[in-house]
Amino acid sequence: MAAVLQSIDAAPHQTWRIASSGAPLTGRIRIPGDKSISHRALMLGALAAGETRIQGLLLGEDPRSTAACFQVMGAQISDLEADWVTVQGIGGALQEPADVLNAGNSGTTLRLMLGILASQPDRFFAVTGDGSLRSRPMARVINPLSDMGAHIWGRKGNTLAPLAIRGQALKPIHYHSPIASAQVKSCILLAGLATAGDTTVTEPSLSRDHSERMLQAFGAKLTVDPEQRRATVHGPCQLTGQTVVVPGDISSAAFWMVAAAIVPGSDLVIENVGVNPTRTGILEALERMEADVTLENLRDVTGEPVADIRVRHSRLKACTIGGDLIPRLIDEVPILAVAALFAEGTTRIEDAAELRVKESDRIAVMANQLNAMGAHVTERPDGLDIPGHQTLKGAEVDSHTDHRIAMSLTVAALMASGSTHIHRAEAAAVSYPSFADTLSAVV
Ligand code: S3P
Repeated sequence: MAAVLQSIDAAPHQTWRIASSGAPLTGRIRIPGDKSISHRALMLGALAAGETRIQGLLLGEDPRSTAACFQVMGAQISDLEADWVTVQGIGGALQEPADVLNAGNSGTTLRLMLGILASQPDRFFAVTGDGSLRSRPMARVINPLSDMGAHIWGRKGNTLAPLAIRGQALKPIHYHSPIASAQVKSCILLAGLATAGDTTVTEPSLSRDHSERMLQAFGAKLTVDPEQRRATVHGPCQLTGQTVVVPGDISSAAFWMVAAAIVPGSDLVIENVGVNPTRTGILEALERMEADVTLENLRDVTGEPVADIRVRHSRLKACTIGGDLIPRLIDEVPILAVAALFAEGTTRIEDAAELRVKESDRIAVMANQLNAMGAHVTERPDGLDIPGHQTLKGAEVDSHTDHRIAMSLTVAALMASGSTHIHRAEAAAVSYPSFADTLSAVV
């Protein structure tokens, strides 16, 4: 037994106690469905005419927030626990909800939904979220929606949730986004669905393109020019319900990829992982670090590339990660920081200031928490400097209620002497409710 994960109830939170014996990670595992694709399947299914069938939906708290919001606006969504989830779409105007919509911890729910709500004429919506979401910047979507004629109000000069939205018929724009954000891009494209004319988004680097792929599959008139990092919706569009098979989430696979890469003797296969090229920055980063990673059984599943990923332990080399690679691995930076601790040389992560406005300030939190375990990580305004060959010791650390921090610290704890207590570890359930069970299965 390499690690004992003991969950200690500290209501309303949970503390995980990890004691590692250093044994390798072996075997074959499956990971939960892709979070980004799960949100989009529920949203497009809710808007479409007819039935959408979804297999492999992520049962994390974030997609549950999306499902709950669209249910109260008229979509009929079957039992989320079933193998196949069906969505009977409204195929027209959403119902005005009688109460405040709650996006929970989910930036994707709130930002994508905002584009849909703002373009629903004659309806009023109020939207909120948890403490983390209420502190995350919303001007990035409110500003371009306002350029389209949207009426949105919020705290702090219309920049923070709770938000109030008076739906309108919008006018099309060509938005040159200053940030490579799939949430911003998708919000504007979804607003464009109900808008007559061409709504275009150009982004500075290519962000994940699940919205574009799925919108096309649901019958939207959408053209993409990846060279120009540009997508256009030719509205108005009527969507038709589809079948969506959700691949495993590469962002969840990343925890096991790094764990297998750093724990000596490991040889692990992660099955059924989505390897959409706009998401595979983690594979490129690990390749630069000379990790032993191979893709097997590459195939296409309802419009998204999927593979099994085999990772064997190897000696890692430091590298610099920045530029266009960042949007392609934005959610994997915390776990990459853990990999870098055990590489030869100093790894630099740059151009990643966006991490400061995720579920937590992931630059500050990772630096503080890893340093509490005896590491010597330095914060930069836009990233981290991480010297390699470090020795970690068990400590008291905290997820800051951020799912990816909770899981990254768990992987770090596998390499620490003594035992590590991870407070508020229940946050992992936002994207990976079965993470602790899988840990017990692989070590
Ligand atoms: C997501 C986009 C990313 C990512 C988030 C999910 C999406 O955010 O961090 O976890 O599903 O569109 P940004 O697009 O704001 O970088």
